Amino acid sequence: MRRKLAAGNWKMNGTRADLAEIAALAEAHPEPGCEVLICPPATLIDRARAVAGPSVALGGQDCHAAGSGAHTGDISAVMLLDAGAHYVILGHSERREDHGESSDMVRDKARAAMEAGLRAIVCIGESLAQREAQNTLDIIAGQLSHSIPDSATGENLVVAYEPIWAIGTGLTPTTDQIGEVHDFMRMKLETRFGEGVGRSVRLLYGGSVKPGNAAEIFAVSNVDGALVGGASLKAADFGGIVTALAQS
Ligand code: 13P
Repeated sequence: MRRKLAAGNWKMNGTRADLAEIAALAEAHPEPGCEVLICPPATLIDRARAVAGPSVALGGQDCHAAGSGAHTGDISAVMLLDAGAHYVILGHSERREDHGESSDMVRDKARAAMEAGLRAIVCIGESLAQREAQNTLDIIAGQLSHSIPDSATGENLVVAYEPIWAIGTGLTPTTDQIGEVHDFMRMKLETRFGEGVGRSVRLLYGGSVKPGNAAEIFAVSNVDGALVGGASLKAADFGGIVTALAQS
């Protein structure tokens, strides 16, 4: 069985004062019934560890493909692990857009993360124009095949489907649309990695997940959890999503 995962992506939000939200989340959900993960800015990971307790794991939001070296401003997978992270989000559409990250670059980062012992949450998703042109599954197939290294397993890889048009907009795909993409991703992973690995990789949905719509999204086939932006910043909101996932 795949362990359900509620993952929060704080993006470029949060200073030390916001660690109280992680503490509150951990306190409210000591035995959450699913895996709970917060990916704060890298500056907070080390301090977050002290308040997150055993029920909330921590992750980074990006890492470099190299282990160390002359890469000013970048952070390596080993550094994230050293700070207390067990996961790293890679290839988020905001990084693909803001930093020109291609799927090939994302794959190299994912390989480095896995080698360091981190679990990679690889993000993929179509733009509104691509959906309207009925190219969604082609885009997903291409991003999936290029962004994931051959070293992927059910333990070290999580895939997040995040339609770009649903991120931060309050818009969500229909449950049929989510199900179509998730079933397709499962089929593609089984074809490439074999049934054992393909079936064990967790698939998250991301894009305007809130406490109010989480339960219906978690009822969709092959949705093993969520990658949550805005609603992960407050313990009360994210806690509602954690509860909905645990009960799904
Ligand atoms: P929102 O939940 O704010 O739409 O963000 C989704 C996201 O990008 C998570 O990585």
